[in-house]
Amino acid sequence: MAKRLGLSFDDSKLDELANVLRQRVSATSSSDVDGYLCLLGTSMQELREVIGHLTIPETYFFRIPDHFRAFQEVVLPEIVRSRSSVRQLRILSAGCASGEEPYTIAMLVRGRTDLAGWRITIKGIDVNPAVIAKGNAGRYSPWSLREIEPRFKEQYFRPVGRDFQLHDSIREMVSLEEGNLMDSHASFWESDAYDVIFFRNAFMYLSPEAGRSVIARMAKSLAANGYLFMGPAETLRGVSQEFRLCHTHETFYYQLRTDSADTLGTISASRMPKPEIPPSINETSLPNTGREWSDSIRQATERIRILSRVPEAPPVLGAAKQKPADTRRPHVDLTLAMSLLQEERFEQALAVLKELPPADQVSHDVQLLRAILLTNHGDLVDARQACSLVLKADELNAGAYYVMALCSEHEGDTQTAVENDQTAIYLDPSFAMPHLHLGLSAKRSGTFDLAVQELGSALLLLPREDATRILLFGGGFSRNALLEMCRRELKGCRGQL
Ligand SMILES: C[S@@+](CC[C@H](N)C(=O)[O-])C[C@H]1O[C@@H](n2cnc3c(N)ncnc32)[C@H](O)[C@@H]1O
Repeated sequence: MAKRLGLSFDDSKLDELANVLRQRVSATSSSDVDGYLCLLGTSMQELREVIGHLTIPETYFFRIPDHFRAFQEVVLPEIVRSRSSVRQLRILSAGCASGEEPYTIAMLVRGRTDLAGWRITIKGIDVNPAVIAKGNAGRYSPWSLREIEPRFKEQYFRPVGRDFQLHDSIREMVSLEEGNLMDSHASFWESDAYDVIFFRNAFMYLSPEAGRSVIARMAKSLAANGYLFMGPAETLRGVSQEFRLCHTHETFYYQLRTDSADTLGTISASRMPKPEIPPSINETSLPNTGREWSDSIRQATERIRILSRVPEAPPVLGAAKQKPADTRRPHVDLTLAMSLLQEERFEQALAVLKELPPADQVSHDVQLLRAILLTNHGDLVDARQACSLVLKADELNAGAYYVMALCSEHEGDTQTAVENDQTAIYLDPSFAMPHLHLGLSAKRSGTFDLAVQELGSALLLLPREDATRILLFGGGFSRNALLEMCRRELKGCRGQL
């Protein structure tokens, strides 16, 4: 069942799954679970019946408004420019549930004079037949319209009892079809079929393999430079290298790479400001004294590779630590350089990296370490260049974005620093340092509520943060010193609220 739908059921969902199975065994008068699973394997009707119990069709009009602003102000103008000779716009809403997402797109597209006379197709696909039927009926509760602007509600809906009926003018712009994204032969997976795909809040329910295969199909079915929108808790890090990350309108989305595409998108770039550390912390937790540091350095050669490689599973909020996956080339021994970083002997550490064989020097783990050393040494231009090399090979590398944030901050470009921190967090929500950095920056600018939120996140994440990552990105502070700093800064912010 999971295979056919691509769904993943972790341990926390097993009780729920057992309940569904019990209910369906009884509803189908099957002898037992085995009998029911046999039926499920052969009956399309039963599969369609059970889908509604296993998937979550939560959706509403104008969900994630920042996406729609980016769609309106960046994506559509670019498509208007680049496709003016064919005058055709093709959009897929994959996992569209009851149609609110594709209908929102239709409302936005309909109002544009620059698309007048274009051939526009908007297709919604969902595996759950009940939600497709609901979408085709076009009748929605006030709850579905909770985020819609009054002008769209007045223009495109008619009240029917307590509900709202969508105008035919919008319904006719959208085709909603039952379909399984796992079906590689489905007609909706033609190549070069879409300019934009919305695949939001569905990827996170898929198993890693299923998610990867769906994304690969999407890459094939997108036109050159086509766009992909995913949910805020969904990233392509470790899933696909075929897309570049776009960051505008305080949100993230992707664009299919072509050879000519700018691969470094929104990068900007400083050194972690070193807030004063009370003497008590200095004495007890500076790097040289902690056992954690020496353990960390001993294991560094192995673990630094984890930080710079592509993870195996798609990271989801709160996901478990990643497992090493990069087996393409032999180990680069970074133990000595890491020890020198820990001792803040940046120049010597850089010299050690320079002595590595040329093939090792270009690897992204070496470049990431080099970027960190250069940032700490104040060579921001070279640090950025090293980050660029990392990002060129692995555009979704959260560590490189964080180092870019440090560089930008050091150069006084707070806005770019914030954007790069946000990108690092988006790519790896378990990464504590960008939260801490954002929190300190928010405090300095007097945005105390945001500072509390970010410092609070850092405080939660730091105890579980990878020790090597603390060594690399912690600006010379140990875990305890960083935790103490978070608590102290939080206290200061709360006093201001
Ligand atoms: C949470 S809804 C998201 C709706 C909309 N995209 C949004 O963001 O508001 C997820 C939808 O994905 C659909 N879905 C899950 N697995 C699917 C599959 N293998 N093929 C097609 N649709 C699927 C579910 O039926 C559900 O309606």
